[in-house]
Amino acid sequence: MEELIERLERARSVFVLTGSGISAESGLPTFRGVGGMWRTHRVEELASPEGFARNPQLVWTWYNERNGAHRRAAPNAGHYALAELERRTSDFTLATQNVDSLHMRAGSRRLLELHGSLRTARCDACGARRPLDATGLPLQEIEHGCGGMLRPDIVWFGEPLPEAAWREAAEAAARAEVILVVGTSAVVYPAAALATRYASREAYVAEINPEETAISDRVNCVIRSTAADALPRLLR
Ligand code: APR
Repeated sequence: MEELIERLERARSVFVLTGSGISAESGLPTFRGVGGMWRTHRVEELASPEGFARNPQLVWTWYNERNGAHRRAAPNAGHYALAELERRTSDFTLATQNVDSLHMRAGSRRLLELHGSLRTARCDACGARRPLDATGLPLQEIEHGCGGMLRPDIVWFGEPLPEAAWREAAEAAARAEVILVVGTSAVVYPAAALATRYASREAYVAEINPEETAISDRVNCVIRSTAADALPRLLR
């Protein structure tokens, strides 16, 4: 931890990649760990274009539930610590795989939502967007006037990431002197590559995760702790 703190104090440019683990202490389930959503739900039925085409009502029922849980959840000390780190760093970029809006609610501004968010629905034909409130999308309003279907405005398996957000994240990872990887199992690409392939060789990469991940053997520093515990300690 000491070397990481010293490097963070000296760093002009910092890049952070987060995953669902940073929201675990806000009460939101992760995907692959104990109690993870992919343990009890079938990914291909709920988080894929094919699943949505087959049963849009089922998919919206699930996303409306997640959307409600996100709105009821509160950012935790880990989210707030990253918003504070942004204020202390001249060149800071936070790329998240999460769609729960908790980084935004914690005050992060230099934020790239690589997998979108549940704040809007998008028509799969004309691209029209519609903001969602805490109740989500009424099941009888899935059909869009243009003949298309309103879908969650997030990235499903097999779909491309938002072009601009991805490019900005890859550029930030390439110039960062310190990279923090927080609360992600680092098994989903291309996001996971931001901390390895896209990082510069000189970057000091630190992982904050209570468990081992797919990139633990390639980082410079491993902090086997939770986000809400380790991140505030880093800032103190
Ligand atoms: N603090 C930090 N990390 C934690 C905590 C915590 N309190 N609790 C759990 N973790 C870690 C787990 O050890 C695990 O490594 O968070 C990670 C969560 O991994 P996943 O469940 O795989 O979630 P994530 O990496 O965000 O998944 C990436 O996959 O399902 C798709 O698109 C979805 O964005 C998601 C992507």
